[in-house]
Amino acid sequence: MCRHTRLFERETRVPATVLVGTQWGDEGKGKFTDLVAKEMSMVVRYQGGHNAGHTIVVDGESFGLQLVPSGCLYDHITTVLGNGVVVDPKVLIAEMDMLESKGFDMSHLKLSGNAHLILPYHQELDMLTERRLGRNKLGTTKRGIGPAYADKSTRVGLRVQDLLDPKIFREKLDQVLKEKNSVLAKVFNRLPADADAIAHDYLEVYRPRLEPHIADTVGLVHEALESGQHVLFEGAQATFLDLDHGTYPFVTSSNPVAGGACIGAGIGPRHIDRVIGVGKAYVTRVGSGPFPTELFGDLGDTIVEKGREYGVNTKRRRRPGWFDAVMMRHAVRLNSLSELAITKLDILGGLGPLQVCVAYDHQGERLEQMPYHQSVLHKCTPIYEELPGWDDDISGSTERSQLPSATRDYLDFLEAQVGVPIRLVGVGPGREQFIHYAA
Ligand code: IMP
Repeated sequence: MCRHTRLFERETRVPATVLVGTQWGDEGKGKFTDLVAKEMSMVVRYQGGHNAGHTIVVDGESFGLQLVPSGCLYDHITTVLGNGVVVDPKVLIAEMDMLESKGFDMSHLKLSGNAHLILPYHQELDMLTERRLGRNKLGTTKRGIGPAYADKSTRVGLRVQDLLDPKIFREKLDQVLKEKNSVLAKVFNRLPADADAIAHDYLEVYRPRLEPHIADTVGLVHEALESGQHVLFEGAQATFLDLDHGTYPFVTSSNPVAGGACIGAGIGPRHIDRVIGVGKAYVTRVGSGPFPTELFGDLGDTIVEKGREYGVNTKRRRRPGWFDAVMMRHAVRLNSLSELAITKLDILGGLGPLQVCVAYDHQGERLEQMPYHQSVLHKCTPIYEELPGWDDDISGSTERSQLPSATRDYLDFLEAQVGVPIRLVGVGPGREQFIHYAA
């Protein structure tokens, strides 16, 4: 009896929330992370690197962030780059300097010693590999993300904690450069990477700046959870860019899905009790890969221009398309979403009738769920349901009741298709431009 009571006491739930992108990235996660973060004590990034890019607008000023978690704009939040992140120190330092120069306090930023470092040869190999692939390229951000995660998997990566031990750092660097330089020379006909220059930059320039931030982040996250603090785990990229569950090989090299938070931050699945999926009111994708609801022509161009659908980082034009409920249903499954946050609803105003993909047609067969076989997906065409559009400007709406009835019908239709409540709706880029849609 006594033992049972103790077991239950230990099982008290802790308030951990995961926020994930549900499409192919660029859903506007930063805005809602920023909003949800307000109520958090800690925000943790669990995967990806500076391939991510999110914009937060504060008092009319835009902040483009790549690595630092969104919650960094609040003084009361500890922000964490977890073990699952890959870090280019030069980029991180530049971002911290920029934010400090604007008056934001960066002393709360913690960096996992187990996170892997992006080194100059990762970026070079990413670029060279893409160039060699030619028409078959993946369309990566060329930030060295794939090569850095590949080195992590083959156990030749250098970690943040290696910066703290110059001897080990140099030994590992010399060892790995034997192979990298041979590939650079023999496969790509390039000059070798310079070990002395890398060691100088990483150990003499970056290390002193980063050292105060390097920490046992797993310990910090658990201390926060155990003391009942609210912790937000912030996914970068998105569900369909997930290495295991996305449209492989047109994916990133990490696991953005909610389960990735467990690995990339060092928590078990039972810690997570809320999973917010962020999705655009339409869909965009940057880079190559299948996209069943892709729009070409004038309508697509209008969405791109109205929605400013150009990469924060790479400035690449994003490919636009209609909302895909088949994808979203799969995202609900993969992430066990408890709720949805829909962004950029204002962009759909004035476009005329709206299409929502409710199923796929594959050679005459109706598919309600995403096919597992990529060759099938490539041949799928969307089955649409048409909904009336609206012309009103909704960007000033602050409550559900202020939205035109066609706008509410659109959201209610998405909710019914996906089977998860829509709790937040973005109606403009500003921090305050959102609606609490459902209680
Ligand atoms: P990588 O992550 O740079 O290796 O790129 C792999 C794929 O993920 C490419 O199609 C990129 O365009 C895409 N990708 C990576 N990061 C983002 C992001 O933050 N938003 C949207 N797409 C991304």
